Amino acid sequence: MANWVTGRVTEAKYWTDTLFSLIVDAPIRPFTAGQYAKLALEVDGVRIARAYSYVNAPSDNQLEFYFVIVPNGKLSPKLANLQVGDTLQITDEAAGFFVLDEIPECKNLWMLSTGTAIGPFLSILQENKGLERFDNIVLLHAVRYQKDLSYLPLMKQLEKSLAGKLRIVTVVSRELAEGSLYGRVPALIENHQLEEFVGLPIDAENCHIMLCGNPEMVRDTRDMLKNTHGLIKHLRRKPGHITSEQYW
Ligand SMILES: Cc1cc2nc3c(=O)[nH]c(=O)nc-3n(C[C@H](O)[C@H](O)[C@H](O)COP(=O)(O)OP(=O)(O)OC[C@H]3O[C@@H](n4cnc5c(N)ncnc54)[C@H](O)[C@@H]3O)c2cc1C
Ligand SMILES: NC(=O)c1ccc[n+]([C@@H]2O[C@H](COP(=O)([O-])OP(=O)(O)OC[C@H]3O[C@@H](n4cnc5c(N)ncnc54)[C@H](OP(=O)(O)O)[C@@H]3O)[C@@H](O)[C@H]2O)c1
Repeated sequence: MANWVTGRVTEAKYWTDTLFSLIVDAPIRPFTAGQYAKLALEVDGVRIARAYSYVNAPSDNQLEFYFVIVPNGKLSPKLANLQVGDTLQITDEAAGFFVLDEIPECKNLWMLSTGTAIGPFLSILQENKGLERFDNIVLLHAVRYQKDLSYLPLMKQLEKSLAGKLRIVTVVSRELAEGSLYGRVPALIENHQLEEFVGLPIDAENCHIMLCGNPEMVRDTRDMLKNTHGLIKHLRRKPGHITSEQYW
């Protein structure tokens, strides 16, 4: 059973009409970068709870979550109305296996995300522990519009602090945007544009791919990686090259 504790919103950042982040102060237990908590609000006497990935590093006690307002969603529009000083409920123990300890030995780690699913990767990279074993890390954020690249400044800052190891890539699907690739991730893998842009090959020998976000992106990218590069899903009992987390 989840143990619920009270969190207080200490900061709210509204990036666009639909994207926002909350900084929360709450007495949680230690978590591992890449994990998620459940957040909840009481609506008409009923607790509505959903999973949200930590964006902050575990060593940072300013708990940060990145949200999209899902139209007619039960919880996300209500979270968007929270103001500084308001409270919410949070599970004190984090969950999830989308963490570096689950990633087998490899030289090049590719972190591919859509929308709000950039969060777990930002937590892992900000924590900056256990990254030594990778020669190269690629952090990719795929969004609809350029304005949805809320964490681009942090991505750039990480690229600087992890210079020589981290390369960042942004992908915008619904408009042409300077500095970003255009289209969807599976197509950019199929036509090799992603590998060319990054300057690294995707191969079964040296790579592991972490996929996070839209379940259709996860499925289509996994299928494309299998068909074009021979990469397969990674399971503890049957090692492979792709580890994924779906947001719905
Ligand atoms: C492990 C895990 C981690 C997650 N982390 C985050 C996070 O960090 N930030 C975040 O915004 N969401 C995250 N989610 C999704 C989140 O749990 C909720 O599903 C989301 O906020 C919608 O809840 P709702 O009550 O507003 O919508 P509901 O009334 O529950 O409607 C659900 C529908 O909304 C759509 N949907 C759900 N999540 C998203 C999304 N992120 N982007 C686009 N469409 C979506 C899907 O069509 C889904 O069927 C995560 C989910 C999982 C399983
Ligand atoms: N982003 C906005 O401006 C906006 C505005 C209003 C409401 N919303 C709502 O917010 C929710 C989430 O939107 P979001 O933009 O954060 O997330 P999203 O719909 O998951 O889109 C994020 C990225 O994933 C891509 N994608 C979708 N399906 C894919 C697939 N099968 N393979 C590869 N890539 C795929 C999208 O490309 P495509 O663009 O090609 O789909 C987009 O580049 C939705 O419910 C949406 O209705 C978003």
